[in-house]
Amino acid sequence: MSESTIIQNDKKHVWHHLTQHKAFESSDPLVVSKGKGMYVTDTKGDEYLDATSGGVWTVNLGYGRDEMVDTISNQLSKIPYFAGSVGNEPAAKYAKELTSIMPGLDRVYYSNSGSEANEKGYKMVRQIAHFQNEGKKHKIIYRDRDYHGTTIGAMSSSGQIQRTKQYGPFAPGFVEMPNCCCYRCPFGKKYGECNIECAHALEDVIKKEGADNVGSVVLESITAGGGVITPVPEYFPIIESICRKYDVLLHIDEVVCGLGRTGKWFGYQNYDVQPDIVTTAKGLAAGYAAISVTVTTDKVFEAFKEDSSNPDSYFRDISTFGGCTAGPAAALETLNIIKRDKLLENVNTVGNYLKSKLHELEEKHQIIGEVRGKGLFCGVELVKDRQTREPVDETVAMSIVGHCLKNKVMIGRTNRCFEHNNNVLLFSPAFICTKNEVDLIVEAVDNALEVN
Ligand SMILES: Cc1ncc(COP(=O)(O)O)c(C=O)c1O
Repeated sequence: MSESTIIQNDKKHVWHHLTQHKAFESSDPLVVSKGKGMYVTDTKGDEYLDATSGGVWTVNLGYGRDEMVDTISNQLSKIPYFAGSVGNEPAAKYAKELTSIMPGLDRVYYSNSGSEANEKGYKMVRQIAHFQNEGKKHKIIYRDRDYHGTTIGAMSSSGQIQRTKQYGPFAPGFVEMPNCCCYRCPFGKKYGECNIECAHALEDVIKKEGADNVGSVVLESITAGGGVITPVPEYFPIIESICRKYDVLLHIDEVVCGLGRTGKWFGYQNYDVQPDIVTTAKGLAAGYAAISVTVTTDKVFEAFKEDSSNPDSYFRDISTFGGCTAGPAAALETLNIIKRDKLLENVNTVGNYLKSKLHELEEKHQIIGEVRGKGLFCGVELVKDRQTREPVDETVAMSIVGHCLKNKVMIGRTNRCFEHNNNVLLFSPAFICTKNEVDLIVEAVDNALEVN
């Protein structure tokens, strides 16, 4: 098919995600056709350096990995699918390997998207409430600026007002707590002079709702699309101790940070905390197959076995595509490649380099208010004025991303999350990124900032 036919078919029939299509009446959409390493090529033959791992933190091993393709192909020729009510070989192997890098967590429930993995976590909490508390301990607390997915249930637990706008009414039983962004402290405090109010706020919310009614709190380890918000070291230990005090399960959403992005296997492993439920997806199989997991402690799992005489006392849930064998086969290969090629080390080394180069930009460009992040996961917050910290308009971030794209470098940005805080540039190159590629990424941003 010719390039123009592909584009015409796309323009006529494909509904792009997160996209206002009016623009395509006067311009062509970007249509990718192949990729190798850190680079993708579009149907016009233009090559782009991808600092986003496929737009949304997913292609963590880079493009064109034949070993991934071979692994998946071998698995598919053995058996592609059977419903998850029975076992399969890659699912069993991967569950063992995955839990071996998640001390304290023992059980893996497979599904096929981050939203779905979170929904499973919520359903587990709701059902445990029925087993143990006559359905009372069913409320789920989530945090402002966090995102947990696109389904109505996941949106009901998402603190991004622009993402949820116009999609209500939402599911009841979800309650918001404040975010933990120091740069824009919701309590107007400064780190070092505060009592980590953002973490203690959880206790206030639990007390307000009644501890008898609260089943879990769901938090991103590092808020991703909400602006790469890294909590202070004290944050998670305080959260965990409040959860233990009130018998509230701690559910950590690792859909973005899971499996290496921050330089540790999981984002939460950067902090001194032990979750009860962990969900992850996106980069788990590096974008070569769709897979997500809800990983729990034995204690959570055992709650579903306690009353075997009751016909309702098991997890009555299924995910059709959670039974695809390509997912765990590809995820296992991803884990093995990360270990074999020492990619966590690379994420740390090159991630530190990326951060230091972004700090150099901060010295040069007044528009940069803050650089933050961990590993190959960085955010650059743009402001009109460093003193007042007034955010730049979303159009400024859009224009910088657009300028980089014209220069064949793809970077990300907070995309329609909050009315006034869509001002963070996002950087999440694949784990194979070199310092040389970081230089090219940062140079493109430097040029874009010069003209904006
Ligand atoms: C932290 C977080 N959780 C959950 C999701 C939802 O994942 P999915 O799009 O695979 O449903 C996302 C997607 O961006 C995310 O960033």
